[in-house]
Amino acid sequence: MNNINMGALVLAAGKGTRMNSANPKVLQEVLGEPILSYVYAALNPIFNDKIWTIVGHQAELVTRAFPDRSDRFVLQEQQLGTGHALQTAWPALLEAGLSHVLVVSGDIPLITTAHLETFIEAMGRTDAPLGFISMTLPRSGAYGMVLREKNKVVDIIEAKDYSPAIHGEDTGEINTGIYLINVAKIGDLLPQLSNRNKSGEFYITELISLAARAGMEVVGARTGDLNLLGVNTPGELVRTEEMLRRATVEKWLERGAALHYPDMLVIGPRAEINLSAHIYGPCHLLGDTRVEAGAIIESNCVLKDSVVGEGARVRSFSHLEQAVLGAGTIAGPYARLRPGAVLDEGAKIGNFVEMKKAVLRKGAKVNHLSYIGDAEVGAGANIGAGTITCNYDGVNKHRTEIGAGAFIGSNSALVAPVKIGSNALVAAGSVITKDVPPDTLAFGRAQQKNREKNNPLNSDLI
Ligand code: UD1
Ligand code: MG
Repeated sequence: MNNINMGALVLAAGKGTRMNSANPKVLQEVLGEPILSYVYAALNPIFNDKIWTIVGHQAELVTRAFPDRSDRFVLQEQQLGTGHALQTAWPALLEAGLSHVLVVSGDIPLITTAHLETFIEAMGRTDAPLGFISMTLPRSGAYGMVLREKNKVVDIIEAKDYSPAIHGEDTGEINTGIYLINVAKIGDLLPQLSNRNKSGEFYITELISLAARAGMEVVGARTGDLNLLGVNTPGELVRTEEMLRRATVEKWLERGAALHYPDMLVIGPRAEINLSAHIYGPCHLLGDTRVEAGAIIESNCVLKDSVVGEGARVRSFSHLEQAVLGAGTIAGPYARLRPGAVLDEGAKIGNFVEMKKAVLRKGAKVNHLSYIGDAEVGAGANIGAGTITCNYDGVNKHRTEIGAGAFIGSNSALVAPVKIGSNALVAAGSVITKDVPPDTLAFGRAQQKNREKNNPLNSDLI
């Protein structure tokens, strides 16, 4: 299509009542990403910044989830239907000087750029001012059913309004909710939408019958691809997610990734996996996760927005979120790395260790049962079992700094803010409230006394 200024409008204001959820439908997640992000991913290569989004129900939640699109949100205060949504966005589309607008429901996570390109090309081969993508199911179910007369599209009848006596047999041809609209030609029809239907809503689909009656050609571009089904119920959401999960795992296997027990792997669309890494299911690799060369992720791990460096190993049952494991590091089994946890090369954390906003420098070790938060642990330091950085005083968070080569004895509490110098030694069971200079032994616990069992002075000790 030449000489056109095309933009896109995403309909994302609806309640999504059938999802049985307090959250907006378009923020429901598929493989860890909101449904709406898949729609944007499909639109971006074609429309760049010319994408508007209609928001309404819990609009703040939706806009907050996509801060870089803030200037392109249009608020539909009352959600009076998909047609009303288009009416609400119309002034913004006119102001942008669009000649054509692609309207798409925000609830189609499997939509791709290729689907849209095929549709736009098909429309370009006609003069039709209005078209939509249709597909054929065994039955039209809860979708809008396409009515044709002599193969020409004349109407879309919503499931609630469908009556076999009036509309004839169920053809199974349904509307996917993706439309291409010529702004100049369809603009006049927009105010004519009515809400005389079972839902009492203004339907965008009424534009089809209005255009057909005005003698305009309406294209129902058929696709055989079931991936264009909108998600309306929890069942549809999880089935869609499963389709995408399989497809994503299959894509990585085709590329040559070593994914063991692939049926139990969940890999998000943004995850990156080096082909020499080995990943064992069940595991979740979500968000911006990157697994580098030769890394191993054992079974039952959840990784979100995290990096696993070259040759690093994440042992079973570990949980990583916004964490960075450097080359040759080891975490787990049962390690919990919260946002800001960083292991430099060769560092190690063992079972039941939790880290948050904390760095372990080269070769440092925290092998058992510890909490390390708001801390820096110097190179080669060894943190004994049960060590706790007491970072929170009930109001503020404070930092703990542990120097290179320090040794913290088991079951020590380091009450932040506190600094332990390099090569210092903290005796087991200490409560450290003051800085410890380098190369110093700190002993922060009551001294042990041994007495005969029947010594009358023993009552002092109890
Ligand atoms: C819609 C179509 C139906 C089609 C189906 C495909 C209408 C009337 N029907 O039905 O023909 O087969 O999609 O999935 O359009 N929305 C708003 N504002 C509103 C109402 C809805 O922005 O006032 C948004 C919703 O957030 C959603 C989209 O529009 O993303 C579609 O709404 P939904 O309620 O899912 O319509 P369906 O009943 O699925
Ligand atoms: Mg829908």
